[in-house]
Amino acid sequence: MNKVTKAVIPAAGFGTRFLPFTKAVPKEMLPIIDTPTIEYIVKEAIESGIKDILIIISEGKECIKTYFGKNGDLEQFLTEKGKTQEVSLLKRIPSDVRISYIYQKEQLGLGHAVLCAKEFIGNEPFALLLGDDLYVGEEEPVTKQLIQAFEKTNSTILGTLEVAKEDISKYGICSPKEKKMDRLVELNGVIEKPKAEEAPSNLAIGGRYVLTSTIFKYLQSQQRGAGGEIQLTDSIMRLMVEEKVYSLAVAGKRYDLGSKKGFLEATVDFALKREDLKPITEDILNNKKGL
Ligand code: UTP
Repeated sequence: MNKVTKAVIPAAGFGTRFLPFTKAVPKEMLPIIDTPTIEYIVKEAIESGIKDILIIISEGKECIKTYFGKNGDLEQFLTEKGKTQEVSLLKRIPSDVRISYIYQKEQLGLGHAVLCAKEFIGNEPFALLLGDDLYVGEEEPVTKQLIQAFEKTNSTILGTLEVAKEDISKYGICSPKEKKMDRLVELNGVIEKPKAEEAPSNLAIGGRYVLTSTIFKYLQSQQRGAGGEIQLTDSIMRLMVEEKVYSLAVAGKRYDLGSKKGFLEATVDFALKREDLKPITEDILNNKKGL
């Protein structure tokens, strides 16, 4: 069986929900306190055993590359000043992990962004982590949970979360083959952004996947779908004719950092988790109570 050693992180979208900020800065660079979102996502992949990461970017998003690259001048300046703690902050990624970049030339949708990774992936299964979904996994990182499920099934796995009825139309929704409520279930369909009344379940795809390379065959010929975009979900639906596809209800807390609510919640939760920031964050929150 093939092992999952590669991950793809699409980060080429326009991020219109975060305008005007995203006019100049990618939403994947939004900081949760002092660390850009995309670093948490890269770290999730690394902590799940991935050594080879491809980030899909678009023109104007080069600061993602700069962030993970080496800044020799700054390093030298800080070293000369004896600022060793700051120097250690410059190194974000272990030296045995490789990050590569590829441009998506037109923002035609998530399916199209994933297709840009075809050469990089070759014939291997791979993890896919969306650049604006942040997870705090329970016990294990969410991508590791999916890789473990892949090791059992040798099939494509979609990470899911249960969503409220009013949110169903914002997600790709899974149709389980049987109605039993196991965490790992085989699917007989997926549908992108259905109306709540037409949705087969409330199991939403939440930005984490392990996919077999067969997906590229379907992405290559994928027509535009919901919102006029080339949808990954539509290709996964077609993949089901050839291979089994499962969903795994992931154990963890998700923050949708493409939305303002998710961004605010992540900022507060992460601050409360940091020893240096917990007391001041609690003070701020207590002072706001009753407003
Ligand atoms: P979203 O649909 O949430 O991102 O895609 P978006 O289009 O940038 O955001 P809004 O809706 O306009 O605010 C999920 C992930 O897929 C990437 C995005 O960068 C994001 O990380 N993506 C999306 C691409 O890489 N290429 C695309 O063509 C679309």
